[in-house]
Amino acid sequence: MSLSRRGFISSALAASVSPKFCHLEIDQAFAAEEKGHSPTPAKTPIVISAGNGYNYLDEAYELLRAGGDTLDSVLKVVTGPENDPNDQSVGLGGRPNEEGVVELDACCMHGPTRSAGAVGGVRNIKNVSLLANVVRQHTGHVMLVGEGAERFAVAEGFRRENLLTEAGRKEWLLWKETHSDWWGPGLSSPSWRSRLGARRQSEDWSERLRRIEEAAVNLGISPELRSSAIRSVIFPPTGTIHCSALNTNGELSGCTTTSGLAWKIPGRVGDSPLIGAGCYTDQDIGSAGATGSGEENIKVSGAHTIIENLRHGLSPLEAAMDALKRIVRNYSADRDRLKYVDMVYYVLRKDGAYAGVSLWEGYGSAREKPHQIAVHDGRKRLEKTVSLFPGPSHDWPPIFSP
Ligand code: GLY
Repeated sequence: MSLSRRGFISSALAASVSPKFCHLEIDQAFAAEEKGHSPTPAKTPIVISAGNGYNYLDEAYELLRAGGDTLDSVLKVVTGPENDPNDQSVGLGGRPNEEGVVELDACCMHGPTRSAGAVGGVRNIKNVSLLANVVRQHTGHVMLVGEGAERFAVAEGFRRENLLTEAGRKEWLLWKETHSDWWGPGLSSPSWRSRLGARRQSEDWSERLRRIEEAAVNLGISPELRSSAIRSVIFPPTGTIHCSALNTNGELSGCTTTSGLAWKIPGRVGDSPLIGAGCYTDQDIGSAGATGSGEENIKVSGAHTIIENLRHGLSPLEAAMDALKRIVRNYSADRDRLKYVDMVYYVLRKDGAYAGVSLWEGYGSAREKPHQIAVHDGRKRLEKTVSLFPGPSHDWPPIFSP
């Protein structure tokens, strides 16, 4: 068995109960912004993205250097993970909804023409970032959703394809079998005992984890994928990429694309395709985008809030910190709940100054993975985000008993 049950539980639980967060004073946490970010002088052209865009920045930067359009550059970055079947955050291979269907969301804004396009809840079309751009270019609308968006995509020459990879299908079945009363072994199956206690909240976590592992083995999930599959079944992740770019003419664009939240209710749409929440670009000011908890970001219109803050003279870091503080305010600064919120903002100002800012330093129990912003301004690099609170966010839902 490749997964260490003890290690998995202890890392997950450590993130759930770490006392470090329970005693943090809010003013101390806000003092994090004093640390500053990206002190190097602003340079153009520049392209910034969520960390998962790192591998695709070279081509995007070269396009900017050659005088290319900023949205074309941005789309070069975000279509990378969309086309990668092994990237489970977006596009092909994205994690499906509770019915096993991948539903994708995206939006984009083109600064020079001050135009926008968006699509939500799209099935069977992997490059929803490109589709959002076609909505922008070839319709009088800004946003298309669901079946209408899919039919529009086909009319515009996009190919329908099954976005659920074999790995994604097995992961979804693992979630289904361990969270449903009717999927998985029935009473007549030799494995019927694995269903005992399946729905009891009080069930011992070691026993529950043992059953999930057994189900993973029975589904043929390979040992190297088993640990991450089990983690995503217990703690449904979101996965998203945002990218913004600025060329030497001072032109800006931005795009955000996602498969949303794993095992979501069909039709659930997060912040990513919402202009002003998942992405906002104002040619006069800057471009901003978000990854993380869509529900929280929608409530503060994160990307638009950041751009308005820049307009009023805040730095990229201050502008994004203010958006995070609005999320904090929505929970009356109650860290018992905020610890389950994961939020990252990416900000690019019109002069090339930028910031990557997060509520927490990293994701849930994946302590070894800090939030990062990928930057290319002639030198490609990953930088840790500046976080409002120290330490990682906690995985949702909480684990009640070890
Ligand atoms: N931020 C991605 C989502 O919540 O759908």
